[in-house]
Amino acid sequence: MRFSGKTVVITGAGSGIGEEAAKLFAREGAIVIASDIDEENGKRVAASGAGDIRFKRCDVCDVSEIKALMEFAAAETGGIDVLFNNAGAGGAREKIHEIDAEGWDRTMDLLLRAVAMGIRYAFPHMKGRPGASIVNVSSVAAVGPGYSPTAYAVAKAGVLHLTKMAAADLAEFGIRVNAIQPGFIMTNIFTRNLEVPEETKELAKGALRQMSSHAQPVARSGEPRDIAEACAYLASDAGSFLNGTSLLVDGGLTIGPRYSWDPEEPGVYDPLETLEEEAKQAAI
Ligand SMILES: NC(=O)c1ccc[n+]([C@@H]2O[C@H](COP(=O)([O-])OP(=O)(O)OC[C@H]3O[C@@H](n4cnc5c(N)ncnc54)[C@H](O)[C@@H]3O)[C@@H](O)[C@H]2O)c1
Repeated sequence: MRFSGKTVVITGAGSGIGEEAAKLFAREGAIVIASDIDEENGKRVAASGAGDIRFKRCDVCDVSEIKALMEFAAAETGGIDVLFNNAGAGGAREKIHEIDAEGWDRTMDLLLRAVAMGIRYAFPHMKGRPGASIVNVSSVAAVGPGYSPTAYAVAKAGVLHLTKMAAADLAEFGIRVNAIQPGFIMTNIFTRNLEVPEETKELAKGALRQMSSHAQPVARSGEPRDIAEACAYLASDAGSFLNGTSLLVDGGLTIGPRYSWDPEEPGVYDPLETLEEEAKQAAI
């Protein structure tokens, strides 16, 4: 019961990583204020029986709703101990030479401004609470190209820098701020906005699950529980010396190119060996 008597606010708690985190914190004794734009699923999570989970609707793209969420949490429980800035989606999918300002702004508002404003409006209710801690969800996409669309990757890289700046700004108040960079985690994020019939979505989910079990050196799929556990660690007393940093929870996805860890994958060394062999043959 690492979080007995603590209040934990989670955005995007109606599905995937946020849902799993809400249940984990609640099972560990916290009062969880679970928020989401999706009321049906938010209420489902609140009624899951995992513990004291209370739903409050919040669209994190609307700053007034973020402020209202934090005020609701404080009114319900007296303050906020942990904020998990988790809500997100894939954002605009165009490459930089095709994206328009509206798609760019929409993605930044959802993935970056919402995190900044979450911190901004949780702050008055976190100040002075022993062990207060904020965890922001970034992504492996912050490491470099190849993991997501451009706007998403830039926003998630921004989350890492925001995490450091916020950790510095809030140090004097004893509030720690850290981030998590999930790898390929099996949630609805990949299929949610596909414009295809429901059966096709289910097929896509099946294919993704297959793919996810051998996408990284750890030979199983990444699950929401992996990220929820990392969040609980960062927010708990056990993580009390971590500040302004980020945990990569990706099963080794970003350790290096695939050929560096997968013996089945041809790598840069294979052409070199061939060249060497050809040179030897030519010399004979
Ligand atoms: N799944 C992955 O592989 C992965 C990898 C890296 C980072 N992430 C990040 O993890 C976080 C959680 O994603 P997930 O994989 O659990 O996805 P998910 O789609 O299962 O859950 C995301 C939740 O956020 C909610 N949401 C979306 N827009 C919102 C808004 N404007 N206001 C409030 N809630 C909103 C959705 O309704 C949903 O319940 C996101 O920030 C995502 O970018 C996911």
